[in-house]
Amino acid sequence: MAIERTLSIIKPDATERNITGLIVARLEGAGLRVVAQQRVWWKKKHAEEFYEMHKKRPFFDDLVKFMVSGPIVIQVLEGEDAIKKNREVMGATNPEEADAGTIRKDFAISLEKNSVHGSDTPENAKREIDLCFKKSEIVG
Ligand code: RTP
Ligand code: MG
Repeated sequence: MAIERTLSIIKPDATERNITGLIVARLEGAGLRVVAQQRVWWKKKHAEEFYEMHKKRPFFDDLVKFMVSGPIVIQVLEGEDAIKKNREVMGATNPEEADAGTIRKDFAISLEKNSVHGSDTPENAKREIDLCFKKSEIVG
């Protein structure tokens, strides 16, 4: 299996509850390595650009509002099959549908306040990593 990189975000509902370390421990426990990490507070334009693929969706405005409501932790994760593995550890978008032992099952509050983001395809992973980090900030 190929070594991949994926973009992970610990969302405002999780930074507010001071559980970023618990979440990183789950990711590391699954064999993913944090090769870049920064705590930031996005402006509206950052969230709108990041989630531009959802622009037409009914939840877009609320999602942008939520993502700028507090600090987030952006990180690049590296590992075998990292994109899929990260999404497995995250669990389903809606925590009520997430499998036992996943981050969203154990920590998420709601469909929107679901604690983590993970890139869903190699193309989106590249786009999201390039949006969030300079090459020199990623140290494997
Ligand atoms: P993410 O992009 O954050 O990793 O989550 P995902 O792929 O599992 O879900 P996606 O469909 O890409 O949706 C992005 C985020 O928007 C919020 N959402 N709200 N109110 C709603 O119906 C609704 N649906 C999605 C969630 O925060 C979701 O993670
Ligand atoms: Mg998504």
